[in-house]
Amino acid sequence: MNSLRPMRFTGAILFTAILGLVLAPGFAARAPAQDAPDVGPTPRLVMKPMESHIGNITGHAAAAKSDYRRYCAGCHGDLGDANGENAVWLDPKPRDFTIASFKCRSTLTGTLPTDEDLYNTIGRGLTNSNMPIWNTFTRQQRADLVAYIKIFSPRWDKEKAGDPIKVPAEPPVSIESIAHGKALFTKLECWKCHGPAGKGDGPSAGTLTDSKDNPIRPYNFALGKDDSRFKCGNTNQDIYKIFMTGVDGTPMPSFADVIQPNDAWDLVHFLRTLQINRHGKENEVLSAAHGVIPPYVDKNPAPAAPADNKSPGGGH
Ligand code: HEC
Ligand code: HEC
Repeated sequence: MNSLRPMRFTGAILFTAILGLVLAPGFAARAPAQDAPDVGPTPRLVMKPMESHIGNITGHAAAAKSDYRRYCAGCHGDLGDANGENAVWLDPKPRDFTIASFKCRSTLTGTLPTDEDLYNTIGRGLTNSNMPIWNTFTRQQRADLVAYIKIFSPRWDKEKAGDPIKVPAEPPVSIESIAHGKALFTKLECWKCHGPAGKGDGPSAGTLTDSKDNPIRPYNFALGKDDSRFKCGNTNQDIYKIFMTGVDGTPMPSFADVIQPNDAWDLVHFLRTLQINRHGKENEVLSAAHGVIPPYVDKNPAPAAPADNKSPGGGH
């Protein structure tokens, strides 16, 4: 069994250790098909000359054909439709590339991700899922796979990737910033799903389903320590992008229309304090304030309604 397991899987040891028993028969069954590609039903797949552009690397779909069939098809399916032989065991389900809806984007909700977005996702894997970290591939292999993913949906023939959202420079972390972030978390009702302490246990948490009607849980910020990860990256910039662009295909909406760019940084700072066991600037600032987030005081309140109609010069 081990001799059949491709060398590149060493990067995903943890995943194989956990799922080895379930998945190994699936991968073993694939191996003979690799050796004799002419045997078995031919997938109804039209090869398109798709490309990807990541920095100075150009990826070509045709070059990823054998990598995809060997390393990806077991979950994502030969036709990219998420019907790989292992898919039935997985929760969450593998992505269906025929829809071209992706969770991790730098682009607005509903738009296609950039090539870099997909490239980064493949190298990062998706935490809290069975999508492995593919960081042992060369950059060229990953770029080729990005191009390959695009042959499955006609959206890539007609649409361009969305424009990446602009992320302003991060302001310093302060207790005022954290307090404002907390006020936004309350006002925008993040807690309804994520729970007041961000433990993924809000009043709506038990009722959520994704766009394929599979149950889905809101992210639990309190899990993990310094190793706590998000699906779509680990930096403050990544968190900023997650709630500004939304996690497409899930109930996690985009807040780009309701949060001002700088306010969004305050929310990032507050979300970091929900990761209670993580060491970071935000939790240092919070402990310096004895763990108390003060109530937020709006220094620039919206102009009040003109009920109080005294004109400065009049009255005498
Ligand atoms: C063991 C199963 C498995 C294998 C093998 C696998 N994936 Fe995945 N993949 C998943 C699952 C599950 C998800 C969905 C995770 C989620 O929604 O959190 C996913 C999601 C994705 C996504 C979508 C990311 C997004 O932003 O929505 C891409 C792209 C992807 N995989 C590419 C690949 C490529 C390329 C390969 C092969 C090199 C591969 N996967 C191999 C299980 C797998
Ligand atoms: C309607 C329910 C709902 C609301 C409201 C909601 N979320 Fe989420 N959120 C989710 C779900 C479900 C996920 C998990 C998505 C997944 O696993 O693919 C999630 C995931 C996340 C993630 C982690 C994504 C990752 O990459 O791992 C962050 C960060 C997040 N939400 C922030 C927020 C913030 C900030 C707000 C309020 C401004 C908010 N959410 C409001 C349901 C919600």
